Amino acid sequence: MRVITQETLGGPEVLTIVDAPEPQPLPTEVLVRVKAIGLNPLEARLRAGEFPLIGRPPFVLGWDISGVVEEGSQTWRFRPGDEVFGMPMFPRAASAYAEFVSVPAVHLVRKPGSLSHVEASALPVVGLTAWQGLVDIAGVGEGDRVLVHGGGGGVGHVAIQIAKALGAHVITTAGGSKREFVEGLGADEVIDYTTVDFTKAVRDVDVVLDTIGGDTVERSLEVLRPGGHLVTAVAEEDKELIARYEAAGMRFSGIAVDPDPVGLRGLVELVEQGRLRVHVQETFPFERVADAHRRLDGGHLQGKLVLTV
Ligand SMILES: NC(=O)c1ccc[n+]([C@@H]2O[C@H](COP(=O)([O-])OP(=O)(O)OC[C@H]3O[C@@H](n4cnc5c(N)ncnc54)[C@H](OP(=O)(O)O)[C@@H]3O)[C@@H](O)[C@H]2O)c1
Repeated sequence: MRVITQETLGGPEVLTIVDAPEPQPLPTEVLVRVKAIGLNPLEARLRAGEFPLIGRPPFVLGWDISGVVEEGSQTWRFRPGDEVFGMPMFPRAASAYAEFVSVPAVHLVRKPGSLSHVEASALPVVGLTAWQGLVDIAGVGEGDRVLVHGGGGGVGHVAIQIAKALGAHVITTAGGSKREFVEGLGADEVIDYTTVDFTKAVRDVDVVLDTIGGDTVERSLEVLRPGGHLVTAVAEEDKELIARYEAAGMRFSGIAVDPDPVGLRGLVELVEQGRLRVHVQETFPFERVADAHRRLDGGHLQGKLVLTV
């Protein structure tokens, strides 16, 4: 099979396609023929060596996959031919930039017919991050005022829709060019962060879901109602910030997303109810992974990028 690997840390050009043996599934695993691979900004940082999550190269990046079960005779969960998707192994390496992966069956769920492999591969990391932040950690409910920072991005665009499905009033920050996009996803109020200071435009927020970090998290303290909850996917380790939130009587939580199949099934249910869609901004063939990473490096994404196999 072909895999995309890298021998050194560096720019997108370090990503190289090589031949490798197909991985053999253990008794609780399935071998998946990968059809599409969702890309995440984290992978660009790992490629460049900004973050040592999976050690030193050589390694194979990637977690988000959608594909077809090829083999897995000892697990009761799936049969060969089943269409599945998920973000297996995260945060350990899943080596998913590959034509085949061998992963725990419990980390996958059935792909709904209403999602293409491309769309399904784009959903797990961002969908589970938003689900775990809004449902599991914050417990967002009917009528809550929720502020989603970065509403046009991968996590943000799914978070807007989940918060709406939970009955929240959703406010989001996004670059001006994304206004129509985020309104189309159900955002009730949109703040163009490039021209408007969000702390002047919104208040009495119950839950902030942050995907930006830096001073966006710091200043979010000003818009929360007393006892409000800041949930961040970016600044989860910042002890000084946590202390400031706690001193102000607010709650502060970080998200370390994990491959929970219960959350994945929750996402599938919303998809099947027509309340959640995933926006794929651009797809790239497997061979053009370096171009896809150049696009990741450029930032300002609207929805997701996907590699097709
Ligand atoms: N902790 C975890 O488990 C976990 C899980 C998943 C992701 N993450 C992290 O969460 C972050 C977001 O991930 P993602 O996949 O959603 O990234 P993404 O697709 O790149 O989205 C980020 C979005 O934020 C917008 N943006 C940039 N600066 C902004 C600002 N100051 N205010 C509001 N919006 C701004 C960007 O476009 P515009 O500027 O054009 O609006 C873009 O649409 C990444 O750092 C990722 O590594 C963490």
